[in-house]
Order: sequence, then structure tokens, then C-alpha cells
Amino acid sequence: MKRLLAVVFTLAFATVAYADGAATFAAKCKACHGADGAGGKMAKESIKGKAEADVLKAIAEGKGKMKPVKIDDGADVAKFVAGLK
Ligand code: HEC
Repeated sequence: MKRLLAVVFTLAFATVAYADGAATFAAKCKACHGADGAGGKMAKESIKGKAEADVLKAIAEGKGKMKPVKIDDGADVAKFVAGLK
């Protein structure tokens, strides 16, 4: 029972984190990358499914024309981007 509760709790938490990542993506990344990361006016190439480490690096250090982005939930955004299909 305890184990089941732990699983349910973990799942609920993971879903919330995912939702936060999506919200932050919409607020901070969508303008350049498009709503689903497929590319937009600024960033032409899709970032769908990019490895979390690469996304975190782009957020922290910037990449090419992209400047570093100041956000607290970079890990959640990275998960969201890596999960895009
Ligand atoms: C002002 C526009 C702009 C914003 C805002 C922006 N990006 Fe980018 N991003 C770019 C451009 C342009 C590139 C392509 C850079 C290049 O290779 O020249 C890029 C590249 C990337 C890459 C590819 C890095 C790689 O390793 O190839 C990732 C991942 C990425 N952005 C994630 C994000 C995330 C996540 C956010 C929001 C937190 C974000 N970007 C916000 C413009 C933007």
C-alpha cells in the first residue's frame, strides 16, 4: 500500500513538473521556437526531442543567436522539450 501511494505521488508530481515546463516553454521559448518546438521565425530548426543536457546547456549558455534565458525551472523545460514528438 505504501509503495502504491509512493508511485501515485511520484506520478502526480511528475505531471505537475511537466505542466510547469510546458507553461515556461510557452512563456519564454515559444516566440522563437514555435508552440511545439518545431521552429519559428527566429529558430528555424526543430528542437523537438533534443537531449535534456543540450536543452539545459542552451538555456544556461545560449547557442549561436540564442542568448541565455533566465528561468528557475530549466530542468522542467528540458524534460518538456526532450519529450516533444
Ligand atoms: C530570442 C529567440 C530565442 C528564444 C527566446 C529562445 N531561443 Fe532557443 N534558439 C534560438 C536560436 C536562433 C537557436 C539556433 C542557434 C544556432 O544554432 O545558431 C536556438 C537554439 C536552441 C536549441 C538548440 C541547441 C543545440 O544544441 O543545437 C535549444 C535546445 C533551444 N534553443 C532551447 C530553447 C529553450 C528551452 C528556450 C526557452 C527557455 C529558448 N531556446 C529560447 C532562439 C531562441
